[in-house]
Amino acid sequence: MESKWVKAFYKRQFEMFAYLDEYSEHYLDLAKEIEQQVNQPFQSVLEIGAGNGHLAKTLASLGKDVTTVELVPELVDFARQDEPKGVTSICASFYDVDLNDSFDVLLYIDGFGVDGDDEQLYLLKRISQWLKLNGVGLIDIYNPTYWKKAAGQTMSIDPSKSVLRKYDYDQENHRMIDTWWEEGAPHDTYTQSLACYKSSEIENLCLQAGLKIVDWYPGGAMDWDEWTYYPKSSLKDCLSYRIKIVKA
Ligand SMILES: C[S@@+](CC[C@H](N)C(=O)[O-])C[C@H]1O[C@@H](n2cnc3c(N)ncnc32)[C@H](O)[C@@H]1O
Repeated sequence: MESKWVKAFYKRQFEMFAYLDEYSEHYLDLAKEIEQQVNQPFQSVLEIGAGNGHLAKTLASLGKDVTTVELVPELVDFARQDEPKGVTSICASFYDVDLNDSFDVLLYIDGFGVDGDDEQLYLLKRISQWLKLNGVGLIDIYNPTYWKKAAGQTMSIDPSKSVLRKYDYDQENHRMIDTWWEEGAPHDTYTQSLACYKSSEIENLCLQAGLKIVDWYPGGAMDWDEWTYYPKSSLKDCLSYRIKIVKA
């Protein structure tokens, strides 16, 4: 069901930056922020699109039981190294993984919007089924206002500045486009594209899936004039915002 670019892009991204995929204090800050945003006691967590698994390991270190679902086998193999008790890593697509369980908390940190509205709605319906009756979901959503302004910006990604990226915006389908290439090979590109949603649009999609948004947490934003990244911004200006969802 997932678009063709997805597996290839995230596998390539991991191959290029595995050497940067070290654990950092950032994950403890993120885990604590998640605890605050959930704002009720919880034990079981389902993290989808889990990437390198560092967040799951950190949540396990705080005593949580975490199941992860990640599509790219190389990322799952990486996550399984030194996997602590309390983490179960599943290599599968969130569109068809078979989970006979429900969870206190559902996380999709960075990455929502890989496919079209129909697929996103299908996924939200699955999320609703995975949540316990009083469970809570946290999902990061890309903000169209930010990404329209970002179109045309080019920058380097890694510390050695050998990989470059250019942002674009698909006005018709409301998707941010992020194209990467290695310096000296500008024609050998790989691209990710993520759907962006205004607050009213994601609210509507959630309602169709039987989910209600009960809180909003804006993330950071790049100031393109000052060329400075600010880690906290407004809902209007942020790069992405996190929604807190419950069963409607
Ligand atoms: C932008 S990355 C974010 C990774 C991690 N959550 C983080 O914040 O670092 C999105 C992740 O979602 C995964 N993903 C995309 N489509 C998926 C699918 N259908 N099923 C499971 N994982 C998927 C990708 O492979 C990638 O690792």
